[in-house]
Amino acid sequence: MTPTTPGDPGGISRKALLRAALAAGAAVPLLAGGGSALARDAARTPGRTLAPTPYCDDGDDPTPDQMEGPYFKPNSPLRTDLVTPGTPGTPLTVGGYVFGRDCAPLPGVLLDFWQADTTGAYDMTGYAFRGHQFTDATGAFTLRTIVPGLYPGRTRHLHVKAQDPGKPVLTTQLYFPGEPRNATDTLFDPDLLMTVRDAGGGRQAGFDFVLDVEGGSGPGPTDPPTDPPSGTWAAGHPYAAGDRVTYNGASYRCLQAHTSMAGWEPPVVPALWHRE
Ligand SMILES: [Fe+2]
Repeated sequence: MTPTTPGDPGGISRKALLRAALAAGAAVPLLAGGGSALARDAARTPGRTLAPTPYCDDGDDPTPDQMEGPYFKPNSPLRTDLVTPGTPGTPLTVGGYVFGRDCAPLPGVLLDFWQADTTGAYDMTGYAFRGHQFTDATGAFTLRTIVPGLYPGRTRHLHVKAQDPGKPVLTTQLYFPGEPRNATDTLFDPDLLMTVRDAGGGRQAGFDFVLDVEGGSGPGPTDPPTDPPSGTWAAGHPYAAGDRVTYNGASYRCLQAHTSMAGWEPPVVPALWHRE
């Protein structure tokens, strides 16, 4: 399966999401096909409540008795690209969205990533392969890095802390499908698998976080479906998640914040508009 397979509703929606992110001037999440379902797919189902991303902490907080391996360092640089000139390794781009449990995308969420280099080593003197960023107005993020190396006792993984402002920190890890050590690593959790595919000599991965918070400011999918439409769809209008419009006599609810444009009429962009 690829993200653009005709007849694949997930593929169509991902394309629309990419366009929405572009229109919003956002960092474009690079989306992957195959593998586990992404939360953005479930988020399009009215009334759906998402399960939060599981916690997974292998002792990354600074603890004096940790001898080797993972070690979180505060004050990582603000950057979405962890690859520096001359860095060896297979390029990896991770893209996705952060949602609240009510399926609203969460802008401004802090994502702090850190990982091992190709030899399986963490940089404890500097900030190689460490960086933090914030989700954009659509709740999207993109990380450019390399495929991390393996080290004893663990399967391949990325570390990340995610925090909606003022809310508890989620410390977790993201995993790669098809890794032999996934079967033996006791920390491995299939709910934390990214979708990963080969692309352009590197890998493109996708993962959507779900934080245990009630998200956005607009009406959520649990609002009564009988809410009256808020207006007639028009191009060039900024819509927020939860906004309701009519188009050709049908009612639609906005799923992703975006600025509308000709060609993005609600019936043709199911990732942006849900027909009610
Ligand atoms: Fe680690």
